[in-house]
Amino acid sequence: ETRLIKISTENPEADLVEEAARVLREGGLVAFPTETVYGLGGNGLDSEACKKIYFAKGRPSDNPLILHISQISELRPIVREIPPEAQKLMDAFWPGPLTMIFPKSDIVPLTTTGGLDTVAVRFPSHPVAMAIIRASGLPIAGPSANSSGKPSPTRASHVAFDLSGKIDMIVDGGAAEWGLESTIVDVSGEIPIILRPGAITKEMMETVVDQVLIDPAILSKPSDDLRPKAPGMKYTHYSPVAKVTLVKGDTKAVICKINQLCAADGEQGKKTGVMATEETKSFYQADAVLSLGKREKPEEIGANLFRVLRKFDFLGVDTVYSEVFPEEGEGLAIMNRLNKAAGYSRIDAE
Ligand code: TXA
Ligand code: MG
Repeated sequence: ETRLIKISTENPEADLVEEAARVLREGGLVAFPTETVYGLGGNGLDSEACKKIYFAKGRPSDNPLILHISQISELRPIVREIPPEAQKLMDAFWPGPLTMIFPKSDIVPLTTTGGLDTVAVRFPSHPVAMAIIRASGLPIAGPSANSSGKPSPTRASHVAFDLSGKIDMIVDGGAAEWGLESTIVDVSGEIPIILRPGAITKEMMETVVDQVLIDPAILSKPSDDLRPKAPGMKYTHYSPVAKVTLVKGDTKAVICKINQLCAADGEQGKKTGVMATEETKSFYQADAVLSLGKREKPEEIGANLFRVLRKFDFLGVDTVYSEVFPEEGEGLAIMNRLNKAAGYSRIDAE
C-alpha cells in the first residue's frame, strides 16, 4: 500500500522528512516534488532499489536514472572527474533544473545508469526534495514519477493515478513549479551538449561557458541517422491516450483548420479536444477546449502542458489538436515535449 503524506513546501516538517528518508534508506520508493516535475526516489547506489524503480514505472532497464544530490560535496564520490565546463555550469545553475552527465565512478551501479559508464546528476532546488535527499544521506535515483510513456507528473495526484499501490510513499508538496523536466547537458566531452531542453537554455549556459551544442535529434523524429544521445529521448513519451496532432500556421488559419478537423472527427463520432491559449480558446468548437496559458508567457505554457495532456485522458477525448509555439528559449523545451506527445505528427494550416 502507498502512504500519502502532505508536507509544507516552504518549511518541510522535519518528522515527515525523516519518515520519507527512512523509507529510502531501507530500500523503498518515495515520490517527492521537485521544481521541475515529481520524481520517484530510491537509493541510487542500491541496484535492488533501482530495479524496483524500473519495475514500478514499467520502464525499460536501458533507460538510465538521474542521481539527485543535496549538496555539492555529494558529487565527487559518484563521478570520475569534474570537467572545467561542468564546474562553471554548476556554479551558475545548481541548485536548479539542470542535469549534467559525468563519467561515473565505481560506486554507481550499472543498473542505475542503464549499463552506461556515465551518470546523470542533478541538484534540485525544491526545499522538499533537498530536505529528503539530505536526510537520507544518499544520492537518490529519481526519474519522473509517472508510468513509462505517460506525461510527467506535476501534481501528487498524477503520481497517485499512475503509481498507487506500486510504491511505498508519495510526498505531496503541491504543484511542481516549472512543470517540464530539467535540461540535460552532457559535460563528459570537450563541448557541452544539450540532450534534453528545459528551463536552463543554451543562451543561459553560454553566459558562463564559451559554447554549448544542441543534440540535433531534439526537434526531429528519431531515426537511424539521428539517434538521440539520451536513451530516454528515443521513446515515444508524454503521450496521452488520445491521438495528438500539431497544427502550424498563422493564428487565423490554425483556428480555422482545427475547427474543420474537429468537425470532421465529430462526424465520425469521435470526442475532440483542442490545446489552445488564453488568446484563442474562445474561437474553437470542440468537445473540450483547454488553455495552456498566455502565449506571451512560455513559463505558463510549460507549467500547464503535462497537466492539460493528462486532463484530455481524464475526459476521454479521442483526438487532440494543438497550436504550436516558437522553438526559441524555453519554447524549445515546450516544442520538444509537444512533438513527442504528438509522435511528430504535424499539419500545415495554410
Ligand atoms: O527534471 C528532471 O530531470 C526529473 C526530476 C524528477 O528530477 N527527472 C527526470 O528523470 O526527468 P527521467 O528519468 O524521467 O529522465 C531522465 C533522462 C532520460 O531521458 C534518460 O535517458 C537520460 O535522462 N539519462 C539519464 N542518464 C543518462 C546518461 N548517463 N547519459 C545520457 N542520458 C541519460
Ligand atoms: Mg521521465
